[in-house]
Amino acid sequence: MKKIFISLGVILSTALLLSACHSEDPNSPVSMRKHVFKQMLSSKEVLFKIASGQKGFDAKLALTEVNALNALSDQPWKYFSEEFKSAGNGAAKDNVWTNKALFQQKVTAFKGAVSNMKQVMAADRVDFVTFKKAYHDLENTCAQCHQQFRDF
Ligand code: HEC
Repeated sequence: MKKIFISLGVILSTALLLSACHSEDPNSPVSMRKHVFKQMLSSKEVLFKIASGQKGFDAKLALTEVNALNALSDQPWKYFSEEFKSAGNGAAKDNVWTNKALFQQKVTAFKGAVSNMKQVMAADRVDFVTFKKAYHDLENTCAQCHQQFRDF
């Protein structure tokens, strides 16, 4: 009897696993870009906490997170190339395919803000106000792209 329960359990968990895979293939372009965005979010959240005063101002930690964002800043966009159109939109709006020029403009603005913040934070002494300004500029570039291209 115990054996039956165990094999039933195995069958059930396999079925669950398969259905999870079916809905979201981790190697699909949509999953790959979402994965990068989630990593970007975790760095952004640390910066947000510092900027909003929930966390003390730690310029070294902020620089680490900005460097992490910088390393990720090239990555999601390749999964929006034409060849991946058939993989579906995920939560992206259709205009990621139809208004590529504007999308590219938002990518460029974002990368510019990350690289600016990286430069700001790499200075010997950075004051909180300067940090906050660079952070808000960066945060705006995330929000401005989302407003245009992400279906919440
Ligand atoms: C140039 C446009 C653009 C910029 C810049 C951008 N995003 Fe996004 N983001 C998108 C699009 C489009 C989606 C929807 C992707 C999808 O579902 O396939 C998205 C989705 C997300 C998601 C949801 C991922 C999921 O699991 O569904 C998070 C989190 C996110 N972005 C965080 C950020 C953060 C943080 C920044 C800035 C540091 C940022 N994004 C900058 C376009 C952008």
